[in-house]
This record gives sequence, C-alpha cells and structure tokens, in this order.
Amino acid sequence: MNAPITPHALNNPAELGDPATFQRLLADEKVPVPDFLKPAEPARLGNADLSVARWFSADFHHREMERMWPRAWQFVARDEAIPEAGDHLVYDIGERSVIVMRGEDGQVRAFANSCLHRGIALRPAGGKVKQLRCPFHGFTWDLQGAMQSLPCAWDFTHLPPERQDLPQLRVESWAGFHFICFDPAAPSLADWLGVLPAHCADYDLEHATTLVHIRKRIPCNWKLAQEAFFESFHVRATHPHILTFTDDVDSQYDVFGDNVARCITPMSIPSPNLEGVTEAEVMHDCIAASGRMADADGGAHQLPQGMTARAYVGEMNRAVFAEATGRDLSHATLAELQDAILYSVFPNFQIWAGYFGNIVYRVLPDGNNPESCIYDVMVLGRHKHGEPKPAAVPVHELSDDQPFSSAPELGALGPVLDQDMRNLPHMTRGLKSSLSGVVTLASYQELRIRHHHQRLDVFLAD
Ligand code: FES
Ligand SMILES: [Fe+2]
Repeated sequence: MNAPITPHALNNPAELGDPATFQRLLADEKVPVPDFLKPAEPARLGNADLSVARWFSADFHHREMERMWPRAWQFVARDEAIPEAGDHLVYDIGERSVIVMRGEDGQVRAFANSCLHRGIALRPAGGKVKQLRCPFHGFTWDLQGAMQSLPCAWDFTHLPPERQDLPQLRVESWAGFHFICFDPAAPSLADWLGVLPAHCADYDLEHATTLVHIRKRIPCNWKLAQEAFFESFHVRATHPHILTFTDDVDSQYDVFGDNVARCITPMSIPSPNLEGVTEAEVMHDCIAASGRMADADGGAHQLPQGMTARAYVGEMNRAVFAEATGRDLSHATLAELQDAILYSVFPNFQIWAGYFGNIVYRVLPDGNNPESCIYDVMVLGRHKHGEPKPAAVPVHELSDDQPFSSAPELGALGPVLDQDMRNLPHMTRGLKSSLSGVVTLASYQELRIRHHHQRLDVFLAD
C-alpha cells in the first residue's frame, strides 16, 4: 500500500535553485554520459516583458492563424493510431480541416477535407473507410486520393484528369510521429526538429506504442496551456505533493536553435524547498506519486542500506523496461531512466525524452476562440522488437467538467494534471485585469516561454 506522503518544513524560496545540479548528478553516473545532456550554449534572449494581449487578443490569434500555423510543422498522429489502410483521423486547425489517412500502400497522406465538387467536408470525423465518398453527390476517391468514381462524368468534361485527384498536404514523419505542413516552401521536418531526433536516437521511439491518450478542452489560450509545462518553477506552489522527489528549482533549461527547447528536472532527488527528507521517503514517494515509473506501489519497495533513491528507482526502471522491451539497457544513465527531460518543438509539440515514461503533449487552438484550446496528453510505452506494433488505445475525450483524475489510465499523473489545469482558467481573467499590461518572465527558468514567443514573433512579422 502507498502510505501518505510525509509533510515537511519548507525552506525560504528566495534562496533556492542551482542549475548546475543536474551536471553534478551526471558526474556520479557509472556509465558514459551522452554529450547532449550537457547544457546548450546559453540562450541570449533578453529579459523584455511580454504584452498580456498575446494570450487573449482576437487580433493576435488571427495573425497566428494567418502567418504562423500555415507555415509550421504540426504533429497530427502517432503511427499506431491509424494502423491499417483506410484508417484516418480528421485534424482541425483554426478553420482548416485535414484528413490524415493510411493508404493501401501503407503510406500516410493528408488530404484537404474538402470535396472537389462543391466543397463540403468529406469526413466529419475519423474512422475507417474503404474509399473516400462524398456524402453530397457521391464523388469517390480511393485511399490514395485518386479519383475512383465521378457521377455523370459527361457533365464534368471540363474537369481534366490532373485536377480530379484530392490535393495533398505535406506529411513527414519522425520515429512514428506524423506531422503535416500546409506550406510547400517550408523546410523539411528533419530541419524543423533540429537536434531532437539525434538526442532521442537511442530511445527507440519507433517501437513506441500509445498506452494512454486523453483529450480535453481547456478554457484558455493554447499558449497558456502549453507554457504550464515549460518550467518546473511552479512545482512548489502548484504540486507540493511531488516535492519530496522532484528537484524543481535545480532544473537545467536549454534552447537548441529555432524550434527546440528543453527542461531537465532531476527526479528521485528531494527539492531544496523541503527540509529533512530521507532517502526512503524519496524512493517511496517517487514510485507512488510520479505516475511515470516502472511501478506505482511505493510501499512494495524497501530501500537497501546505503543505496540512494535515485539509484534504486533508476535500476528498478532499467530492469523492468529491459525485460518488457527485450533490450539491453546496461548503458543507460540513471538520468535517462527517470528524469523529467522535456523537449518542446515549436509551435505546440512536447515530448518527455528518455528510455522510460514518455509523455507527449499537444495543444491546439479551439477553432477561432483565442480563449479556448484542445489539449492532448499521451503516454507511450514500447513493444518488443520483432513483434507487431499494438494499435493505439482510442482517444479518451473528457468533457469540460471531467477532471483528468477521472481517467484511471493516467494513474498518479491525473491529479498532477488537474493541479496544472486549475491555474489556467484564472490566467485569462488575471491577464485581462493587468494594470501593467505585461507579463514578466524569470530570466533563466522561463527562457523556454521567451524562446517560444520570440520564434512566434518571427512568423508574425513576416
Ligand atoms: S459536393 Fe462532393 S460530390 Fe458534390
Ligand atoms: Fe505542472
């Protein structure tokens, strides 16, 4: 059984935080440490305040819709979500709708969700079809988008064969993640993702499978929901129950080029916010309350004499995960077996890297409402090499009044997400009430937020 987490006295927050902590932990690793875990070149992004209007103004939203979204690579589906020919989903961004579909040849394509005849959306929602048949007059295309049947073809002799196939958007993929882009002139997805594929090369995300997929509408701008996961500075005030095993204010923050940023928060290390936490408590609470370790029953484990919680939890994850995947993970660092290593890719994709406990976030604007967004959270496992990839779980859509903790598949992550989300509706209200008219970011711990907004500004200025 999981005993309740022990309360601890809090230290003076003004004096806390050391970004060099993670590198000191790496120096204690018993295996070679990958270079990419070192800090990136310091980002020189300045300390300018940001206007509050960025997070609620209809005008700002429309500029994003006109200038940024049509030119950005957007994550639309894990490969296992549409495993067979005819499987598809409908991806909506602003007022545009796209069908993402697997063809008979196994390839994933993206079609504008618009009939070539009178323009009706061809598919109201995802599912599985044998062909794409328009509900209005029955124009029909095959799963590759080639015209199959044109009713009263004698009346369309002015529609030449080269204009009869469904127009396609670009689809490019990385490690089982499919992305689309509306812009034929955009760089490749590989360019867009920058260092991410190289940093994740050994995590075998090609063999990932979607174990959990929750979707919920959140009453705030899409950037606010995303920024809730850009820093660990909020843990003391928002998630106090995870401080015993989360080294929040000692996190390392990095920016890599235009689109990629990272936060690394050491796990199985007590926060400097707390006094007098024992290693046994760290181990117990990390297993019981992190929601992303190889076991969730903190009470089932006894910390051996002289062993740190970090070593114990890391080795537990290594053993369980090696067994589950059939991989030798003896070379994996304790950091990559448990730490919160969060990468973000502009504009709205986030992934927890590492061998274990990979969470994925995507936040989309909710149509043209700048004060509402659609938030997806996925948890990825792996499947054994040589065995077929299991299909993804169906998307579990929560209603507006259902908390994440009502989704049992999230385990201990559910209450943590509810804590994050509780802040968000109050942010819009507060931003609109601001007398200064600006938001002031922390210079280091919130540099990912600044990086994101500066990148956005590049698109809006063009
Ligand atoms: S609108 Fe699609 S067939 Fe007429
Ligand atoms: Fe949080």
